[in-house]
Amino acid sequence: MVARDDATGTPDPVEKGFATLNTLRIGVKAMVEKDGEYRKAELLSMRTRGDVPYFYVHYVDFNKRLDEWIPASRIDLSQEVEWPAPEKPDKKKASGGQKAPGKNQKRARTESRDVSATPDLLTGKNTNVSKAPRPAKAGGKENRVDGTPHPLPEGASASDTPKQASEDVEMMDVSFTDAKAEGEEMKTMTREEEIEKLRTSGSMTQNPTEIHRVRNLTRLQMGKYEMEPWYFSPYPESFQDAELIYIDEFCLSYFDNRRAFERHRKKCTLVHPPGNEIYRDDHISFFEVDGRRQRTWCRNLCLLSKLFLDHKTLYYDVDPFLFYCMCTRDETGCHLVGYFSKEKDSAEGYNLACILTLPQYQRRGYGRLLIQFSYELSKREGKQGSPEKPLSDLGLLSYRQYWREVLLDILLEPGRESVSESELAQLTAMTDKDVHETLLVLNLLRYHRGNWVIVLPDHIVEQHRKRQEKEKQKGVRKIDPSKLQWKPPVFTAASRTWNW
Ligand code: ACO
Repeated sequence: MVARDDATGTPDPVEKGFATLNTLRIGVKAMVEKDGEYRKAELLSMRTRGDVPYFYVHYVDFNKRLDEWIPASRIDLSQEVEWPAPEKPDKKKASGGQKAPGKNQKRARTESRDVSATPDLLTGKNTNVSKAPRPAKAGGKENRVDGTPHPLPEGASASDTPKQASEDVEMMDVSFTDAKAEGEEMKTMTREEEIEKLRTSGSMTQNPTEIHRVRNLTRLQMGKYEMEPWYFSPYPESFQDAELIYIDEFCLSYFDNRRAFERHRKKCTLVHPPGNEIYRDDHISFFEVDGRRQRTWCRNLCLLSKLFLDHKTLYYDVDPFLFYCMCTRDETGCHLVGYFSKEKDSAEGYNLACILTLPQYQRRGYGRLLIQFSYELSKREGKQGSPEKPLSDLGLLSYRQYWREVLLDILLEPGRESVSESELAQLTAMTDKDVHETLLVLNLLRYHRGNWVIVLPDHIVEQHRKRQEKEKQKGVRKIDPSKLQWKPPVFTAASRTWNW
């Protein structure tokens, strides 16, 4: 029996056989009942609750957000299971005289396979999301634009001023107190050492073992919503035993007990993301938050968003990023709906690093607004941009939909005679590559006498018209570029990265 090795894609022999409850172990793949059907699933973790064994399973070929704890009764032991492959010796470590490889190594590899499980269908590339800051280009006096033209809700603190850099420290909560106490020591560390310390010290463990693959929080409460996390996020280890985690919806601090949370709420004065409000229409606002100035807030945001982003690996090194946070407003403050991060200086020309709509707001058109906003910023910058790869499954669906709509909107504009691919890219701030590949996916390109020609079949025109009609009736919201009060910020080398 030969199957493909999950991590490398090369064929590997798989040992099969019958298992009993006692012989089941981590790494075994068995048939598991899911919604009335049996599906192959890998056992990732085991625990007992009141003498009853439970298994944390990942359904093969399904997104990790469907992973779950199941009782043994859902495992079909009348069918053969696949035993995990014996571990291979690690040549590198053997020659380097280091510790012998263990499960962790294999797991770490599998984790990165999971990262690329959603291939970037457009580019075929699988780059990683995390990145080290690059040396900055010369010059560049910091020239931040304060674009807060509107009054903010009562109690709002002045935004993005030098004072706020020190307020950032005030905002530090339980999880970062260790790091704060050791601030002096950290100042003498290199950036890499400091990140490593944050990763491994105290309870903020980011352990590359199986725990990383197991969702660690059960439920969250944020504002008036309760949410179920989809993936692991390196919140304090002790949080995994709490039934409900409380997230302050404004400062994003986190608590595993209600009393501590309520005490904090009485003191916390933040009522909007700690940055400049750069966009406001009747419905939403956007705040620009600098990862370096608001390090704790942005780290808290990354921890929160990791719960819903499988391949996101950025938690601590937020300095090189700006965070564009979309909120709805009411008399109590500005409530975070979603955000995207953007590198202050992207060598690859990315105009968006990570995007998230909080689950309670998904499928209501907010993702589209976030994407449109990222392109409006690119237009102001006079640049063409693209989201960082790889995209998640939902990211790809959302981008495909957005690209399709904006290109068809232009192609079907009344009075438009003809338009080239590069003109489409200029008009939309999309890259030439994204335009070309979207047109290919839509099957709108024909190769004619050495040139690509855009052809609009009737059924596409018809579909688009129907969609526009529906949107008109529903009153679908779009970003109004005239309400964007923003100039591209210019950063010094120091302000792009950590500068203890
Ligand atoms: N199933 C099918 N289609 C979907 C789904 C879904 N679950 N979600 C979005 N889409 C598609 C649809 O075509 C939809 O348009 P339609 O509703 O008119 O058909 C379109 O995307 C846009 O939907 P929105 O409602 O505007 O998007 P939403 O607010 O749900 O946000 C987002 C999309 C941000 C991707 C959200 O699903 C999310 O936060 N997911 C978790 C995090 C994530 O995967 N982020 C992307 C990572 S890639 C990167 O960061 C570069």
